[in-house]
Amino acid sequence: MSATYLVTGGMGCLGAWTLYHLHRQGKRAVCFDLSEDRQRLDLLLSRDEQAAITFVRGDLTDTQQVRDVFAQHAITHVIHMAALQVPFCRANPPMGAQVNVTGAVNIFEAARHTGVNHVAMASSVAVYGPPELYAPGLLPADAPVAPRTLYGVYKVANELTAQVYWHDYGISSTVLRPYTVYGLGRDQGLTSEPTKAMQAAARGEDFHINFGGAMQFHFASDVALQFILAAEQVSNGALAFNLGGPIVSVAEVARLIMAARPGVRITHTESGLPFPAGCDGSALYAHAATVYATPLAAGIAATIAAFAERLSSG
Ligand SMILES: NC(=O)c1ccc[n+]([C@@H]2O[C@H](COP(=O)([O-])OP(=O)(O)OC[C@H]3O[C@@H](n4cnc5c(N)ncnc54)[C@H](O)[C@@H]3O)[C@@H](O)[C@H]2O)c1
Repeated sequence: MSATYLVTGGMGCLGAWTLYHLHRQGKRAVCFDLSEDRQRLDLLLSRDEQAAITFVRGDLTDTQQVRDVFAQHAITHVIHMAALQVPFCRANPPMGAQVNVTGAVNIFEAARHTGVNHVAMASSVAVYGPPELYAPGLLPADAPVAPRTLYGVYKVANELTAQVYWHDYGISSTVLRPYTVYGLGRDQGLTSEPTKAMQAAARGEDFHINFGGAMQFHFASDVALQFILAAEQVSNGALAFNLGGPIVSVAEVARLIMAARPGVRITHTESGLPFPAGCDGSALYAHAATVYATPLAAGIAATIAAFAERLSSG
C-alpha cells in the first residue's frame, strides 16, 4: 500500500509547513481543514506545487466526515494538527472542546475503523501549569500536568485519549508538545509576536513584542519535520514528548532580529508567559531517529530573509 499522509489543519502554520516538507520529500498528502484560505501555504509552495496535494474541506467535529477522509483517500499516516488556539477556546469553550477534544476522538475513531495503527498529534506545553507550581530549572517531562487554560485542559484530554486508544485498541501515538513556534505563517496568537517582529524587520520597521521572559523557541520548519518523523516512526505506546531546546530570553530574540537587520529596533514587555521557562526534551532525543533543531540565530535569519524575499516579490 502506498503511503498517504493526512494532515489536519493543513491551512495553519505548522500544517502548511508539514505539507511543504511532505511535498519536498515526494510524499502524497491530503490536507483536511475547515478553512480554504491558502495564504500560509502560498508562502511556502507555488500553486503548481500545491496541485500535488489533495485538499479536502471538512470539519473535524463531524465524525463521519473524518472517517470518510480516511477511507476515501486510503490514509496510512496521520499528522493531527487542527485545533483552536488559546484565545478561541477562551472565547468559545464549547466550540473549543468540540474541535480540540471531540476532533481528536474522531481522528482516533477513524484510525480504528480504517486500520491505521499509529497517529502523530500536536499537544502543547500548555498542559503544564505556571512556573511557581514546579521546582526551578528545566521541567522534567513527567512533571504533573496542571493546565490553567481550557486549551491546555483539552490538550491533556487529547494525550489521555491517545493512551486509551493504545490500551484498548493498540493504536500507538506520538504526541509532540511545542513551546513557542516561529517562522513563515505564524501569524495568530500572542506567541506569534516574535515572528511578527521578524516580518517587521524584513520591512525595515520597528516592532514591540508584547511579552518577555525566557522560553524555548522552535523553528516551524523543524517542528513540521519532527511531526512527519513522528508519524512514520511507530511507537510502542502512547508517547508524549516535549521538544526541548535551549532556553532563550525574548530580549535575546530581539537582539538576534536586530543583528540580522541592523537599523530596526525591536523592543519587548518584561512580563513572561505563565509557563516554566523550559521543558526537558531529552526523552525525544532518546526516542527519535532525528531531532530537528535549527539554531535560533539561523532560523531567525532564514525567516527574515524569507519574509524579505516574499515582500520583494509582492
Ligand atoms: N504554533 C505554536 O506555537 C504551537 C505551540 C504549541 C502547540 N501548537 C499546536 O500545534 C498545532 C498546529 O498549530 P498552528 O499554530 O499551526 O495552528 P493554526 O491555528 O495556525 O492552524 C490550525 C488549523 O486548524 C484548522 N481548524 C480549526 N478548526 C477546524 C475544524 N473544526 N475542522 C478542521 N480544521 C479546523 C484551522 O482552519 C487552521 O488552519 C495545534 O494543535 C496547536 O495547538 C502550536
